[in-house]
Amino acid sequence: MVAHMTQSHPRISKAVIPAAGLGTRFLPATKATPKEMLPVVDKPAIQYVVEEAVAAGLDDVLMVTGRNKRPLEDHFDRNYELESALEKKGDVDRLAKVRQSSDLATMHYVRQGDPKGLGHAVLCAAPHVGQEPFAVLLGDDLIDPRDPLLKRMIEVQEQHGGSVVALMEVAPEQIHLYGCAAVEGTGEADVVKVTGLVEKPDRADAPSSYAIIGRYVLGPSIFGILRTTEPGRGGEIQLTDALQQLAADEKVGGPVHGVVFKGRRYDTGDRGDYLRAIVRLACEREDLGPDFRSWLRSYVTEEL
Ligand code: G1P
Repeated sequence: MVAHMTQSHPRISKAVIPAAGLGTRFLPATKATPKEMLPVVDKPAIQYVVEEAVAAGLDDVLMVTGRNKRPLEDHFDRNYELESALEKKGDVDRLAKVRQSSDLATMHYVRQGDPKGLGHAVLCAAPHVGQEPFAVLLGDDLIDPRDPLLKRMIEVQEQHGGSVVALMEVAPEQIHLYGCAAVEGTGEADVVKVTGLVEKPDRADAPSSYAIIGRYVLGPSIFGILRTTEPGRGGEIQLTDALQQLAADEKVGGPVHGVVFKGRRYDTGDRGDYLRAIVRLACEREDLGPDFRSWLRSYVTEEL
């Protein structure tokens, strides 16, 4: 049954990026600028996420936005005035940087209206996605392009059908910040079967140390479930709760699997993590890294 479903799957081509959050943790920077536009080194955080989707073969990107998110649309669109000024100066490098974000993917936008939670944001994508499996990428998690996670998740979804979440082992004192999965082993080292999910459990109630990091490949049956999912943690409609229903009854929409990620992940969700992400990424850049690393070394040894 599952094997048959697998064969009839269309190729996954759509990515959904929820981006309606208010970004209150970064006020006042986010008073008039979406948090997704905050630079990580010299690129807005959201561009890393779109680039990751494109690198995994997803060239149709739907952003779920809200009020005050117009700069996101502008960033992924042409800017003729700027382009012609750079062209006149013969500044080809910067011109390429400006054009890169508008050439990346076919971008679509839908507004969430009421911010009723991540599950609700994903539900807003239903008319665009239709009856296909699709990916969801959360902007607070950046995955290093050298450690391709999404491609692997798509492979696993194509193999097993149903839905796939990205999991990472975290310390017990961190688990209350994430969705947490109860899992069983499969024959494959990096793949587990998810038998249950709970959103942001207390440490004592967590079924494992596997946290959901912000990548999902979902079957379209998630939409039907989300339509009837009651508000959960924080009074919000939680994607984790809808996935729990899938995990509890495979007949509804196929199994839920987890891909266990051991690569480099940069969290930009709060100010401390955001600063750490910038420092790590700046250190690794070929152009900025050498100078920045040597400055950082002397700063740490001499000033801290
Ligand atoms: C969301 C999800 C949570 C997941 C996390 C990953 O929570 O609800 O299950 O573990 O993203 O970053 P948020 O961090 O948006 O509160």
